[in-house]
Amino acid sequence: MSTDQAPDPRDLLDLSPVMPVVVLDDADSAVPTARALLAGGVRVMEITLRTPAALEAVRRVAAEVPDIVVGAGTVVRPEQADQAARAGASFLVTPGCTDTLLDATTGTGLPLLPGAATVSEAMRLSERGFDTLKFFPAEASGGAAALSALAGPLPGLRFCPTGGIGTGNAASYLALPNVDCVGGSWLTPKDALADRDYARVETLAKEAAALRP
Ligand code: 3PG
Repeated sequence: MSTDQAPDPRDLLDLSPVMPVVVLDDADSAVPTARALLAGGVRVMEITLRTPAALEAVRRVAAEVPDIVVGAGTVVRPEQADQAARAGASFLVTPGCTDTLLDATTGTGLPLLPGAATVSEAMRLSERGFDTLKFFPAEASGGAAALSALAGPLPGLRFCPTGGIGTGNAASYLALPNVDCVGGSWLTPKDALADRDYARVETLAKEAAALRP
């Protein structure tokens, strides 16, 4: 087995029971959002590269909020890996994986949480040395029952399930032996960010941080 996995992403999953998946339309929201998450006890955030503001948002959080570990998510094109690294991302997340994308992301030397939705995808990533994966899209791919079933044949793998998870079902995932943290966008609702309602983000972060005592 090759071991082209760079620094241990398992450490990332220990930072918080929830990995906030943050979509920012305005880079000005980045720092206050990061501070609100931190104030709520969440020390990690994934800023998705889905908006024109995303790289600037990563840059600002990395420079101005050193106490939060900021990563770049929705890395789907090889060139985004370097762009995110240069912006100051501490880790990368991909929704799925191709060989080209894996080469580009591992080439940055950053910890990577690669996405898988099936047993075969998880096995291929395991062959490449990855033992910590994003299970995406979690609810649409069978949810907690599917992940629980994976623990039998693939006991060495740990997952951050993401996609369709919220306050109502997060605990059922976190109870699984192969889940260290869940991902989700519910801590940073679109309307709260548009209204600059960072107090709401802080409250949601507090509730999320309390999911694992
Ligand atoms: C992701 O990119 O990880 C998902 O879009 C987040 O899914 P959610 O919005 O259902 O939490």
